[in-house]
Amino acid sequence: MAKKKEPVLIDGKVVSQKIKDEIKKEVADLIDKKDSSPHLAAVLVGDDPASQTYVAAKEKAAHSVGIISSTYRYPEDITENELLEVIEFLNNDDEIDGFIVQLPLPAHINEDHIISAIHPSKDVDGFTPVNIGNMVLNRPGYLPATPYGIMELLKAYKINTEGKHCVVVGRSNIVGRPVSILLSQKRNPGNATVTLCHSKTKNLKEITLSADILICAIGKPQFITGDMVKEGAVVIDVGIHRLGDDSAKKGYRLVGDVLFKDVYKKASFITPVPGGVGPMTIAMLLKNTLLAHKKEFYS
Ligand code: GUN
Repeated sequence: MAKKKEPVLIDGKVVSQKIKDEIKKEVADLIDKKDSSPHLAAVLVGDDPASQTYVAAKEKAAHSVGIISSTYRYPEDITENELLEVIEFLNNDDEIDGFIVQLPLPAHINEDHIISAIHPSKDVDGFTPVNIGNMVLNRPGYLPATPYGIMELLKAYKINTEGKHCVVVGRSNIVGRPVSILLSQKRNPGNATVTLCHSKTKNLKEITLSADILICAIGKPQFITGDMVKEGAVVIDVGIHRLGDDSAKKGYRLVGDVLFKDVYKKASFITPVPGGVGPMTIAMLLKNTLLAHKKEFYS
């Protein structure tokens, strides 16, 4: 029997670098025209190590393309009202084009209240009800960065989604639900037949086995195994987890929601972890910031 072709590794580092290079060029052109640099702010509450790492990475990436970034840090015990005042300040500060509130927030703060207070024109995370509504209605707005990044990866690798069965595993507001909506819409990539699966889905394996495109955003390490994937499927792995590994220098290695070594044998295209979807998220946040600076939207 002929040996199965190796899958194409979807390289998020290369695609995100290309997007960042385009942003950098556009920012340089803006400065040449005596416009100001775009300015992204991040609000960071408490000292969750993962959030600190993410915000530091966002700042570094912003600087690398000429976007100004500032981080507003607050202690864990900030009240909801105090945080709402910060949002109000950022909404009204003309120097700031867009801002994000890094999640999760401490338990005593209602995330919905905080996110809803962000002005939609500065919501470069695309998390506010207005931007989510615009996305659902296929109207101009800001797309959440990770789903936006997944769309760009599919586009970059010319993966045809039209009429395909796309199975999304995970229904989070940040990834699973928006990506399922985008791929079902009349757009490119899009026009797919989408099934959204979650923790209560029955016969999950039966459904994932029928996926032409499988998007894994369930938040469980190595949850999707080889026997759940159809031969030739396109596999997009959104998860990122630390798995203890004594043989690794740091004592852990990064894995996704997919058991890569087995699923690799089935897929036609697959995103690695790290280096797949992850780098795209920050690139699309920067893209949204540039759009916000120009008072433009994704459409
Ligand atoms: N926490 C985990 N991912 C994200 C993100 O994309 N944006 C924000 N604001 N918080 C997060």
